[in-house]
Amino acid sequence: MNFDYSFYYNDLLNFIKNRQPFNPDVVIILGSGLGSFANSVKKIVSINTSEIPGYPLPTVAGHNGFLHFAEIGTKKLLLFEGRIHFYEGQNIESTLLPIFISKELFVPNLLCTNAAGGINPNFSPGDLMIIKDFNSMNLKKDFSKKFGISTIGATDNLKKYPDNKLYRKLIDASFEEKVYLKEGSYFWTSGPSYETPAEIKMMQKFGFDSVGMSTVQEILLAAIFGISTIAISCITNMAAGIQNQKLNHEEVIATGKMVEDKFAKLVKRFVTNL
Ligand code: HPA
Repeated sequence: MNFDYSFYYNDLLNFIKNRQPFNPDVVIILGSGLGSFANSVKKIVSINTSEIPGYPLPTVAGHNGFLHFAEIGTKKLLLFEGRIHFYEGQNIESTLLPIFISKELFVPNLLCTNAAGGINPNFSPGDLMIIKDFNSMNLKKDFSKKFGISTIGATDNLKKYPDNKLYRKLIDASFEEKVYLKEGSYFWTSGPSYETPAEIKMMQKFGFDSVGMSTVQEILLAAIFGISTIAISCITNMAAGIQNQKLNHEEVIATGKMVEDKFAKLVKRFVTNL
C-alpha cells in the first residue's frame, strides 16, 4: 500500500484507541437519513468526530459526525453516524476513515448503508435493497495509485463481495422480522449533483437498480483489508426521469425517517444473529 494510513492518521487512531471500550464485532456505517439508528442502541462511548484530531468535518445536512461504541444484546458495535463524501471536496482517504479505523480495531464485519435513488421501476421510495454488485471503474485509478492494487488484484479482492455469511444472515433477519428486501446493482457516481434523466436511462439500460454517491470505495478497501462486507441501499427517491418529480435532499432525509423503524428492526436482528 503506497498510502501509509497508520502513519498519516497516527494521532487520530491513537485518540480513538484510547477511548475504545471493547473490540467491536461489527462496524456499521449509517447513510443519509439513517443516522437515527444510533438512538435505538445502547451507546457505551460516543465521540463527536470534531473532537478527533485530524477528522474532517461533515458538511452535509443529515450527517452529524459521531462515532459510537454501542451494544445490541451481547454484540459489540462500532457505529459511524455521518459520512464524509467524495463530493465534499475531500480526498479519497478521508472518505475511507471508517475503514482505516475498523482495520486498526480488528473489526471483522462491515455493514454499509446508504441513501440511493431507485432506477429499477419496480422499486419505491422506502424500499431497502441489498447491494449485490456495483460499478467501480471511476475509482480504480485513485485506488491503484494510493492503495497499490492492480485491476487484476481488485477483481480478485472483489470476488469476496458480498460476504456469503453476512448475506445469508441478512436474508434470515429479513424473514425473521418480515422486513422485505430488494436486491440489485448500485451505480456509484462522484456527485455532488443528482443525475440527469439521460444518465439514469443509461444506468437502467446497463442493468443498474440504484444510484448513489458513496459506499463503493468502502467496499473496495474493506475487501483489500479482508473485512467481511455487506451493503444496503435505502431507496429514498426514484432517480431522475423515472417519475415526474423533482429531486431534493429534503426528500432523501424524509424517506430516511419513514424507514427508520423497519431499518432498525432489520439491522438489530442481523447484528443479534451474527
Ligand atoms: N442520486 C444519487 N444519489 C442519491 C440519490 C439519487 O437519486 N438519492 C439519494 N442519494
